[in-house]
Amino acid sequence: MNLEFEKLENDFGARIHGLDQHRDIDEELVEALAAGLNEHGVLLMRGEKISPARLVELGRAFGELEILPEPEKRHPDHPEIFDLTNVRRDGEVVDYEEPQAVFLRGTERWHTDSSFREVPCLCTMLYAVEVPDSGGETQFADMFSALAELPADLRVAIEGKRLIHSYVYSRANNPGRMEPMSSEEQEKYPAVSHPWIRSHADGRESLYMGGHVSHVEGMDLDEGRELIEEVLTAATQTQFIYEHHWAANDLVIWDNRSTLHRLRPYEISARRRVMRRVTVAGVDPVN
Ligand code: OGA
Ligand code: MN
Repeated sequence: MNLEFEKLENDFGARIHGLDQHRDIDEELVEALAAGLNEHGVLLMRGEKISPARLVELGRAFGELEILPEPEKRHPDHPEIFDLTNVRRDGEVVDYEEPQAVFLRGTERWHTDSSFREVPCLCTMLYAVEVPDSGGETQFADMFSALAELPADLRVAIEGKRLIHSYVYSRANNPGRMEPMSSEEQEKYPAVSHPWIRSHADGRESLYMGGHVSHVEGMDLDEGRELIEEVLTAATQTQFIYEHHWAANDLVIWDNRSTLHRLRPYEISARRRVMRRVTVAGVDPVN
């Protein structure tokens, strides 16, 4: 296997070299990619066009793909692909306050994808079709280092605690107006509880938190939220961050078990940002 991983920034994230886009996705490649993701948290493939079919194939190499509940956000030929775009179906860029824009702006909060599920997703793959010249970067924060370097008093304060993650809560707190969820919809997303400190299969530990978190289990609401803010601020300092400046044809894969990410603002109602996303379902509950 001739794959090489070149480290990106702050000893976090790596760019993959030597992956021919036409190469068969066999067991050897899958193992190398999975090991790379475990080690680096974020992987970047740059400079090669990836077709929608190939994107789905690459995603499947990591596991089963989630299919989004909203059909209008799916790629017309590949339901596994989520068209993450500020360009409407009619070809026009969205208005700042319309639901498509509000939804996208929701990703400007630090979060980890689908942490509101009992078994949250494993990793997300985002492929850039069109990107703005400036703004619209994606920041990733390494929750292994963040936990390792968390001040001792904060570590003590969160030890053994669990966080309540709720889609109903994060939707309600989305920046911008969003249609309130019907009670029927709300029932589909019961709040879940995950440990604040997550243990991984290889024995390492990371922080597990982010924008879907509503509160600390068993703690006074306000006190808990203050603690969450304090830990989040400590965990997202620049030394834990890789900021990705997108170029067209970039594919970025991130491990949602051990990283947080957020979109940086851009002129959402003026500049086109067209991305294709696949999400690999998780297999293990959060421990
Ligand atoms: C996502 C996400 C951020 C971005 O796709 O889960 O948060 O930069 N995207 O588009
Ligand atoms: Mn996300």
